[in-house]
Amino acid sequence: MPARINVNGALGPPESAAISPLDRGFLFGDSVYETLRTYGGRLFLQREHLDRLRRSAEQLGIPYDNAPVDVEREIGRTIAEAALPEAALRVLVSRGPGPIGYDPEGCGPPSVVIYARPCPEIPGAWVREGVDVAIVRVTRNARSALDPAIKSSNLLNNFLAWREARRLGAYEPILLNEREHLAEGASSNLFLVRSNRLLTPPLEEGLLEGITRGLVLDLARRGGIETSEEALRADDLRGADEAFLTSTLKGVLPVRRCDGWPIQHGRPGPITLRILDLFEERIQAETKAGSAPDSIRK
Ligand code: PDD
Repeated sequence: MPARINVNGALGPPESAAISPLDRGFLFGDSVYETLRTYGGRLFLQREHLDRLRRSAEQLGIPYDNAPVDVEREIGRTIAEAALPEAALRVLVSRGPGPIGYDPEGCGPPSVVIYARPCPEIPGAWVREGVDVAIVRVTRNARSALDPAIKSSNLLNNFLAWREARRLGAYEPILLNEREHLAEGASSNLFLVRSNRLLTPPLEEGLLEGITRGLVLDLARRGGIETSEEALRADDLRGADEAFLTSTLKGVLPVRRCDGWPIQHGRPGPITLRILDLFEERIQAETKAGSAPDSIRK
């Protein structure tokens, strides 16, 4: 399958892509990114992703507008060139190359890297049966450190959590914050169902404001499901009626077990199935009608 990488407008196969070893994205993880995907060949919620990319850059003081290329235009070119049936896209904006050391003076312009690859498939069995999660010892970064609301490519902490989960035989780690409240997965947001209410940690707990999270909250509210963003503890997950993960690449993914113990009956429950249906309907509506989705931040 033809993957393509675009570095500051130079577009080609991954083998020929090059970036300076003095790029601060490489040296410090001093960059921000987005993961997008297509459904039916069309980018899903592109506007929301591009807005968040800009916000992340602004929060780190990366001068997004000084990028040598137009990010949206290059995304379009890269997708067209890759010509994949369904593409997953990583769009990265770094502070750019500069003198080694923390002082960003004399550094830049920002580097823009866009990687288009075949969209990884989530096996149907995972959606039907659910996946396993583990609450890990690695905690989510405090908001007073590298705020998890910033989608930065400085992902070592997430990687450590992911590695711990894999050692425990789980698919996705669930990270707590410093108050021992549930935060999110290494690359996903977390939802629980308790007494027919859909619960998810609020942004104040220190997590990424997932685009899929926002869409799911919106779909649930419009669908008459009561939702609440509230502080939750590990035992709320272990004792939940239902649980699922959300992300751009995972979609809505039911959770079967936590720390080796089944969530209720260890099968996706009725509210999870309803959310899966609503999510699927939204994708279908966008794909078939060929119209842009409503903004999810109403
Ligand atoms: N991950 N939380 C974290 C820490 C994430 O990295 C992600 C996304 C999410 C879900 O956000 P969204 O619904 O906007 O994709 C939550 C992407 C997919 C990634 O790392 O590639």
